[in-house]
Amino acid sequence: MKSAATTTAVVWWPLSSKGLRILDLGSGSGRDAYTLAALVGESGSVVGVDMTDEQLEIANRHLDYHAEAFGYKASNVEFKKAISKSWMNWGWKITASI
Ligand SMILES: C[S@@+](CC[C@H](N)C(=O)[O-])C[C@H]1O[C@@H](n2cnc3c(N)ncnc32)[C@H](O)[C@@H]1O
Repeated sequence: MKSAATTTAVVWWPLSSKGLRILDLGSGSGRDAYTLAALVGESGSVVGVDMTDEQLEIANRHLDYHAEAFGYKASNVEFKKAISKSWMNWGWKITASI
């Protein structure tokens, strides 16, 4: 019997996510960014970067909804339009990226 091909993913995640500032490259409609926004807590933040106006528009539509749902005073997420390979030149202080 042939064995099935397997794929191994290596995932690193800090023991505590609170307070991290996370860069989400290719953030699309923002689902992952908003999940991360809950994980990092109100003291953390998420920057979502995408090159597509339509995706950014959808993602930005839900900033207030999620801030309210998580009980935050203000959204800890922002979305920016950019091509992701240029992010290293932006000079942001980032603690993790996906
Ligand atoms: C599968 S979607 C991401 C979905 C997203 N993680 C979510 O939770 O909704 C991939 C996104 O990457 C963006 N993208 C692809 N290449 C990119 C690049 N070089 N720079 C910026 N955005 C890029 C596309 O516009 C698309 O919105």
